[in-house]
Order: sequence, then structure tokens, then C-alpha cells
Amino acid sequence: MNPNALPANWYLCTRFSNMRIESEIQRRRTFAIISHPDAGKTTLTEKFLLYGGAIQVAGAVKSNKIKKSATSDFMEIERQRGISVATSVMSFVYEGIMVNLLDTPGHKDFAEDTYRTLTAVDSVILVIDCVKGVEEQTERLMEVCRMRNTPVIIFINKMDRDGKDPFDLLDELEEKLKIKVRPLSWPINTGTYFKGVYSLYHKKLNLFRPGSQRVEDDVFTIENIQDTALDAQVGQRDADTLRHDVELIEGVYDTFDVNRYLKAEVAPVFFGSAINNFGVQELLETFIQIAPLPQGRDTDKRHVEADEPKFTGFIFKIHANIDPRHRDRIAFLRVCSGHFERNNFYHHVRLDKNLRFNNPYAFLASSKDVVDEAFPGDVIGLYDTGNFKIGDTLTEGEDVMFRGIPSFSPEIFKELINMDPMKTKQLEKGIEQLTDEGVAQLFLHNNGHKKVVGTVGELQFEVIQYRLEHEYGAKCRFQPISMNKACWLTTTDKKQLDEFMRLKTDYIYFDKDNNPVYMAETAWALNVAIQNHPHISFHTTSEFKTEAV
Ligand code: G4P
Repeated sequence: MNPNALPANWYLCTRFSNMRIESEIQRRRTFAIISHPDAGKTTLTEKFLLYGGAIQVAGAVKSNKIKKSATSDFMEIERQRGISVATSVMSFVYEGIMVNLLDTPGHKDFAEDTYRTLTAVDSVILVIDCVKGVEEQTERLMEVCRMRNTPVIIFINKMDRDGKDPFDLLDELEEKLKIKVRPLSWPINTGTYFKGVYSLYHKKLNLFRPGSQRVEDDVFTIENIQDTALDAQVGQRDADTLRHDVELIEGVYDTFDVNRYLKAEVAPVFFGSAINNFGVQELLETFIQIAPLPQGRDTDKRHVEADEPKFTGFIFKIHANIDPRHRDRIAFLRVCSGHFERNNFYHHVRLDKNLRFNNPYAFLASSKDVVDEAFPGDVIGLYDTGNFKIGDTLTEGEDVMFRGIPSFSPEIFKELINMDPMKTKQLEKGIEQLTDEGVAQLFLHNNGHKKVVGTVGELQFEVIQYRLEHEYGAKCRFQPISMNKACWLTTTDKKQLDEFMRLKTDYIYFDKDNNPVYMAETAWALNVAIQNHPHISFHTTSEFKTEAV
């Protein structure tokens, strides 16, 4: 028999496998909770895990945020790196749905890590502190969601505190986050007088009892808000205010349209208090009902749909082993399509080589287990001995690279100075590997003799210096230099670009993929350059789908 001949039942096998992929997609939701530090992301995550049965007691999820005060506590950094491997992905099953929750670092210096994690999710829950409203970090995170058309649900937390007026908060959300909002629940008072939340979606009244966990008896179904039963529960004055508010909401806001949410045109808003476990279950239940299923992704050649039979996936995060004696790392892969199987060979597109993974693992709360298979929406950890960079794509053979994992212009630039010429090789290897992990970005000038490291926060320089010394035995220091923005350059007129690069030779660097980058010293210098060179585009991200500056 010809060994290449298909088995007689090949058609049925393929159909079965496609049906299996389809049904696994249907039961998955992959998302991230994002917030400005201290808004309550960790607390909400923990409550979700409690509902999912992934943890049994509150306090089991260690906060992976590096406390704002601990700016140079290296042991803390090391400890946090350990914790954040364990809590990078937390999967649990809730009402038959496999929920993959991807953790994002709260500290602003690790914002870039958060941006990359957002490329691996299909939706986000954004937590806002009702006292502080929209904060700086929230706006930036939302910008990334907007760039990627990621559907967003907003949870306004800490309603047990005296916060801003809910209508003012909604206006602030629309204005600062530049997205239409639609409340799906509404608070009855706030702070000391907070009495509960009325679900506009389920027409239920959920009464608040401070300090207590949710009790079934505290939930009332109120089909008609005019019903006097409402007065009996919350008192006449608050009942009247609620009726008035609800009338206003129904008059001002369009009816909630789930398709507009899925298209990222409108963000549903919920109110609650994560620490009191109030409004959390409602949020989770609505989330699993409306959140998008695992979505396909764009590659450099075509759009890959999640339900395609062949496996594809990309690396969005790399973690170094916390034991410096072992150089191996963990690469986090998001499955985009098909069926990933342990011990199969997959094609590493950038290196054009086939790799096999013996011990891929999935993450259940803080433990990790070897898995035999994974489906679209899943995130698996792959042991890596230096093969992977952020953005690498694995396929069953097709030469496509997933898009949408850009580097953003760093905000702080420093020159890397080698302090021990005998260890030049170690330093070069170390900085290359650390930048592959996405800890920072590296820009080279003068054939690599001058190395500039760019980050979004000061903390990374300390991390790099510490890790270069402890993991690679290379000593370095960082020298501040005055640079304001890194702009990747493209042109419709090669002559003009060559001329610009000749004129600005001191300011032209190359990124790790050898793309030319203009390092503008000031915003003014950048503006002048833009005005004088109409045929050159100056991009503040390394992927040029977004608008030029
Ligand atoms: P983050 O991950 O977004 O940074 O926030 P996290 O959950 O750590 O919460 C920040 C602080 O806000 C914590 O207090 C937490 O207890 C508190 N918090 C969270 N949700 C609520 C809420 O609904 N109401 C009120 N009043 N507080 C809330 P902390 O004092 O900084 O830390 P901890 O000592 O309580 O852990």
C-alpha cells in the first residue's frame, strides 16, 4: 500500500478534528484585567479565581506588583520575577467555560510588558477606582486597546468609598478614554451610604452588606422598577433617586448592543466593590456571556482564522529562569488557530527550523502542568534555550509571521557602558538576550560600538544592570543621554531618506532587526524633521499600521 495514501476514513477524521477545534473555541475566553496601580486589579483577579475554584482562600494570589517604594530592592525584583512566572496566566473553568486570565504587571515601568500581553488577549476588563476616576496609566492602556480594537468592559471599583458621582464618572470615561460607554448596572448611593447595585441588564437588585460575602438573599428580581418592593428594600428616597437615574440612563444611552461591544465601539460599565466581593459575580457572569471567543489574527501575508485546522501561534512574552545558573527561559505562546500537540514538530518561521516541545505546560492558578494539547485562545509555556524572540511565530509549515506586536518608542534612553573590557562578549550576549525577552530595547550606532538602551521606566535599568552582572558576569553602567523619542523611518523616496540619514548621521541608529531609527533629541527637532521631509514617515512604534506622528 502506498504509505502516502490517505486512510479510508480521512474525511471523517478531518471533520471530527475541525468539530473538536470549533467546540473548544466556543468554550474559551482569553482576557486581561488592566488598571492603574491600586485600582483593584489584584483583588478582582483573586475574586474571579475564587469563583472559578482555582484558589480556595482569599490572599492566595500574591500581588505581583513591585511596590512603588521598592525602587532598588533587587531581591524584590528577583522575587517578583518568580511570582510573575507563576501568575502570568491563570486558567479556570466557570460554568463550563475555560477562562484564561492573563496577568499584566501593575507597575508603570513595566508598561511595555502589559502592551504586549494585550496582543495575546481577545478582550479586557478595565478596573477604575471610583475615587480617582480615569488615571494616567488607564488612558495609555486604553490607547493600546483602541489601536487593536479590543472589546473592553469597565468595572468601577471601590463603591464602598466616597467617590465621584457616577454620571460624572461616565462622562469622564467617555471623554478621557475616547470610547462610548453604556452602564449595565447602577449604584444606589456610594461610600458610607452605598446600598447596592441595580442590574440594568438582568433587572435585578443586588443589596450591599459591607464586609460580608455575597448572600443569595440579597438579590431581588425587580421586573418593574416602579414596584413598591423597591422602596421596601432601599427606602423611598433612594428608590426614587434610582428610578430617576434609570430613566435618565435609558433616555441618554442607546440600548446595549453586544455587537457594538464586540466591535469595540461601546464599553459596558459595571459598578461594585472587589474587596467586598460585591458585583464581581455579576461581572463574571456577564463577561462569559458576552466576551468574544478566541479571535483570529493578522499575519504579514493573510488573516488567520481561529477555526482553521492547522496550528499557528506566536510568542508574546519571555521569562528568564530565575535560577541564574540555568539560562533556559520560558516563552509564552498564544495559540491562534488549530490544535497544538505535545511532541509534534512545529515550524519556527523566523529561524526556518522545526522544533519539538516535550514539556509544554499550561497554568492553573499558581501551578503549572504539562499539557498534551492546546487550542485557540490558550496560552502555553515552552522551555526555550534561546530560540525565541518576542513576536516569533510557530506554524505547521506555512511561512507567515503574526503582526501586531510592535515595540513602542521608549521614554528613557541611556548609553550602555561596558565596565569590564574582558567581558565584552558576555555583555553583548546578555544585552541581546535581555532585549529579546523584551526587558528593554536596544539601538545600535556606529556599527554597534555605541549601544543605547531604551525603556519606559527607570526600574528596567536597575534590572538590566543586576541581571547582566548576576546571569552573564558582565559589569556595566548607564550614562544618561538626551533623547526624546525613537522614530522608525519609512519613505516613499529613498533618495530623501538617504540624504536625511547622511545629514542626521549622529542621530541615526538601528534597531535589533536593522531598521533605521531617528533618535530625536527634542520634540521640536522631531517636528522640524517631519516638516522638512514630507516623503519620510516617522513612526513611534516599530509596526507601521498606526499613524505616523
Ligand atoms: P492593583 O492590583 O490594581 O494595584 O490593586 P489591589 O487589588 O492591590 O488593590 C489596591 C488596594 O485597594 C488594596 O489595599 C486593596 O485592598 C484595596 N481595594 C481593592 N478593592 C477595593 C474595594 O472594593 N474597596 C476598597 N475600599 N478597597 C479596595 P492596600 O491597602 O493597598 O493593600 P492591602 O493591604 O489591602 O493588600
